[in-house]
Amino acid sequence: MNKNILLCVSGGIAVYKAVALVSKLSQAGANVKVMMTASARQFVNPLSFQVMSKNDVFFDTFDEKDSHVIAHIDLADWADLILVAPATANVIGKLANGIADDMVTTTLLATTAPVWIAPAMNVHMYDHPAVKRNLAQLAADGYQFIEPSEGFLACGYVGRGRLEEPEKITALVKGFFSPKSQPLAGKTVLVTAGAVSVSMDNQHVIRTKANGKIGVALVEEAKALGANAFLVGEHGADIYELIVELEHYKNQHPDAFFIHAANTPTIEGTPKLSIEGTRAVTFGQEVIGKAILTVVSQDWIDFSDKAEVSGQVMVVTNAEQFAKSLWTYVLQGEAK
Ligand SMILES: Cc1cc2nc3c(=O)[nH]c(=O)nc-3n(C[C@H](O)[C@H](O)[C@H](O)COP(=O)(O)O)c2cc1C
Repeated sequence: MNKNILLCVSGGIAVYKAVALVSKLSQAGANVKVMMTASARQFVNPLSFQVMSKNDVFFDTFDEKDSHVIAHIDLADWADLILVAPATANVIGKLANGIADDMVTTTLLATTAPVWIAPAMNVHMYDHPAVKRNLAQLAADGYQFIEPSEGFLACGYVGRGRLEEPEKITALVKGFFSPKSQPLAGKTVLVTAGAVSVSMDNQHVIRTKANGKIGVALVEEAKALGANAFLVGEHGADIYELIVELEHYKNQHPDAFFIHAANTPTIEGTPKLSIEGTRAVTFGQEVIGKAILTVVSQDWIDFSDKAEVSGQVMVVTNAEQFAKSLWTYVLQGEAK
């Protein structure tokens, strides 16, 4: 594999599994460095990670061993991929809120490498609305997840919350770096999703109908294909805010591929999104510029059974399946 993997270990009972993960990743040919939170060091001594990774283990932001570099920036730049495994509810909450008060969280904010988060916690913690909110925020920020599996938890409960097995995580990492499965690697994808509102006056808004499932599935599939994919705007976003946010993203990522899946209002006087300067797919919305593909459906896309792309019929009832089909179609077109 010959890739640089930074493993960030936070303080859950599953830290012992992270030691096995270092071993599996190293056997697969990865160069692994490990960073630990203070809580993680309560569970396993850093020496175990040092021996397994054959590298120093990092945990103190202010312990600058090499005066030529700042360690956390150096590691953030060194990594081809960062794994946070196990990811505690605490570290998830900090990252979702931009808090950088230790070496792990500081490095996570300093990196531009893809970051995969592997939550592991008690089933009730995982189901807590605050944790769900933070995970949703991280998903919207473009983070990928290695979902916890179900099973017997160390706390005595049975349910979702177990850190995925090291063999499985290693297989996902190998797959990620295999060129075949990553046709969107290095590409940025922007997607709008769901309902959009427009103000009529100080007291009234008009909002379109949409559930946002298609847009979210398109982002998830783009990520699975290796893209840096972002949801632009929120479900129910104001059209003016959506336009500003899209322009901001377009300035930051001038080569971005854009999928406009949000249902924008059609009432007179509503401003239109500009797709100029992007290769864009639209779903029949009025926009400024020309799309490379327009998906046609009888009803609004979120509520349709079928859609048509250049005469090809796609099933829409299963959002994930539709997203796979659409990306396959788009990538075939790009390859031509
Ligand atoms: C025995 C024990 C097991 C724990 N297991 C978990 C866990 O699996 N997941 C979790 O999110 N927190 C767990 N915690 C709580 C975290 O250690 C605690 O929230 C800590 O502040 C996390 O710090 P960190 O995110 O900086 O590593 C556990 C605590 C103890 C004492």
